[in-house]
Amino acid sequence: MDDAINGLLRPKGIAIVGASDTPGKIGHTVVKKLIEGGYEDGIYPVNPKADEILGLKVYKSVLDIPGRVDAAAITVPAKFVYDVAKECGEKGVKGLIIITSGFSEVGEVELEEQIVDLAHSYGMRILGPNVVGTLSNTDKLNASFAPFLPLKGSASLVSQSGALLIAMDAITYTRRIGFDKMISIGNMSDLNFADMVNYLDNDDNTKCLTLYIEGLKDGRRFIDESRQASKPIVVLKSGVSEHGAAAAASHTGSLAGATKVYSAAFNQAGVIQATDLNDLFDCTLALSLQPPMRGENLLVITNGGGVGVLATDSAEQANVPLKFAPKDVQEELKLHMPAFGSAKNPVDLTGMADTDWYHDTVNFAFTHDWVDALVVLYCETAMTNPMEIAQSIYKAISETGIKDKPVTVSFVGGERCEEAMQWLVEHDIPAYNAPDLAVKAMGTLHDFARLQEVKGDTSYENKQADSKAAREIIAKVRSDGRTALTEIESKRIFKAYGLPVVSTELATSEDKAIKLAEANGYPVVLKIVSPDILHKSDAGGVKVNLKDEASVRAAYQEILKNAKAYKADADVHGIAVQHMAPWATEIIIGSINDATFGPTVMFGLGGIFVEVLKDVTFRVAPISKAEAAAMLDEIKSSPILDGVRGETARDKAALADVLAKYAFMVADLTDEVKESDANPVLVYEKGNGVMVVDARIILKDK
Ligand code: COA
Repeated sequence: MDDAINGLLRPKGIAIVGASDTPGKIGHTVVKKLIEGGYEDGIYPVNPKADEILGLKVYKSVLDIPGRVDAAAITVPAKFVYDVAKECGEKGVKGLIIITSGFSEVGEVELEEQIVDLAHSYGMRILGPNVVGTLSNTDKLNASFAPFLPLKGSASLVSQSGALLIAMDAITYTRRIGFDKMISIGNMSDLNFADMVNYLDNDDNTKCLTLYIEGLKDGRRFIDESRQASKPIVVLKSGVSEHGAAAAASHTGSLAGATKVYSAAFNQAGVIQATDLNDLFDCTLALSLQPPMRGENLLVITNGGGVGVLATDSAEQANVPLKFAPKDVQEELKLHMPAFGSAKNPVDLTGMADTDWYHDTVNFAFTHDWVDALVVLYCETAMTNPMEIAQSIYKAISETGIKDKPVTVSFVGGERCEEAMQWLVEHDIPAYNAPDLAVKAMGTLHDFARLQEVKGDTSYENKQADSKAAREIIAKVRSDGRTALTEIESKRIFKAYGLPVVSTELATSEDKAIKLAEANGYPVVLKIVSPDILHKSDAGGVKVNLKDEASVRAAYQEILKNAKAYKADADVHGIAVQHMAPWATEIIIGSINDATFGPTVMFGLGGIFVEVLKDVTFRVAPISKAEAAAMLDEIKSSPILDGVRGETARDKAALADVLAKYAFMVADLTDEVKESDANPVLVYEKGNGVMVVDARIILKDK
């Protein structure tokens, strides 16, 4: 564990530089909150003018403090922060909590960078600037202007929004969801989400990492750290605008909204995505109190048919569909219900269910090997007391001594149910006020187990890749002052990475075109080759299914004429001749170099599937073959690849191989390539492979 970060978040001794005796000032509030929180390792207010603040001795400078000072909370105006940081460095402070605003968030980037450089020269780390501060229940540390420490618990929050952190701090008490740490991350000039994931994964007092993210600074590192983390991470990502999509030059660019790429990255990192703030709390509750759901058998026990049906519906949506319990389980359960109950799944104990029935069925079911997870539902009735039911459920679970199976609960009713659920949460059993939420929470625990498995190895080594040959082609294009590669150049690069392309050669005369057509075999396709004409079909620059010499000659002339009409001064290299590959299922593969995550890879079926339905899926490149195969099954139209309406299945193995090779290519050339795509790619019947018909590469501006 990084000593400087630990010193910052769990300091032994803290200075408040810019402490003030004036109530209402942030420098006053932070001192007050540190005192109120009960921090015991030394609170040192620093202010050149004051002698005493809230009963504490005030120091003129950090350097005057006699004892150990691990962290300094800085609340002086922005223009003084650099000098204050310097004194902190000289004192041997480990970390700065820069509460002050007015840095990169308002364009003052240089000052912020200077402070980071200075801090690093002293081995200090920085939280912020522009933060609310940091809180830790274990250390009774409220080094912030949040009103109080959160309800004690085992989740830890890292928030990019200070205001939201304060709001969530208060919600911990109403929702009864406990946190150990709450860390405001602000401008992330130094410490960012990746650092926090690394730190909290190693923090003994944190069981679940809860993140509110607006935007990541170093997406790749975040993925790497999250992938290595063993604890559950749940993220609420805001800011889902499709920025930049419209301006993108390639098809992939227009499909790759920020949200899709973030979502793909979170998936690859094994991170759970919450849909909104309530969901963030719901997920946190389950993940911080319960183990993952390993296995597929979820049993639901209820006293009401209605909530049972609602739970059954939600189970499908949450990817934990209910199955009937085996005979022996059903027979045992029948002993604890009236004849008109149901022992299938959901197990309906009926409205007559009392504490004993709940206890006995829960106890039996939780112990049984077939049951991988349990959801217990209760509807308030006149004959039962919700608190007693809650206690009997808890007793039944704890008597089993089982710690590696999850349970969630929903009590549907009024105030008495609320109280009972609060009691359950305080006893580490996540409880929700609607059956679908209890089931969804179980789905989250199931997702966590699944994501742990998929986040393993994502590497893919393409030993045949000829990076040197690809870079030579790129160098030549750059020396021409171009960033758009022609189809022929793009295909040569694809080929250098072992991708199967329809061989395409350049003809600069009609006669050469005929020779190439004969060599490749009729029918052929002719296409304009010009870096100034990227959308060849729109320019009338493509002629297909040319079956003989006469049609090739006619097409050759017509393409040249069309190109001239489309763009009179276009730099025409010639006309590409290629054999016309027999038609097959059309797909598209593409990539953009994302500002946050770097090279990505997209896959979808061609035609209307991509144009209208935007049925595509993304990953951050490179990807393993297994991950490529998973992408094929992820799109809604995937059954088409498996063969529908009597068609034979397509060559998915070859397609996954191509996808992995393509992802390897874009990752390998990430310093050069901005966007690329293979569109269309034809996928033949199983065993017959894949063929890239058209390819496009656009280089980064340099
Ligand atoms: N060392 C120690 N104390 C110093 C100092 C120094 N070098 N320079 C100034 N101070 C003292 C001031 O004298 C003052 O104390 P006083 O009340 O006894 O006079 C105190 O530091 C604060 O300075 P002041 O000029 O009164 O500033 P302020 O309290 O009005 O504002 C900030 C300071 C940091 C709060 C303000 O600049 C700011 O950034 N506010 C936004 C913070 C925020 O919202 N962050 C989180 C976003 S989520």
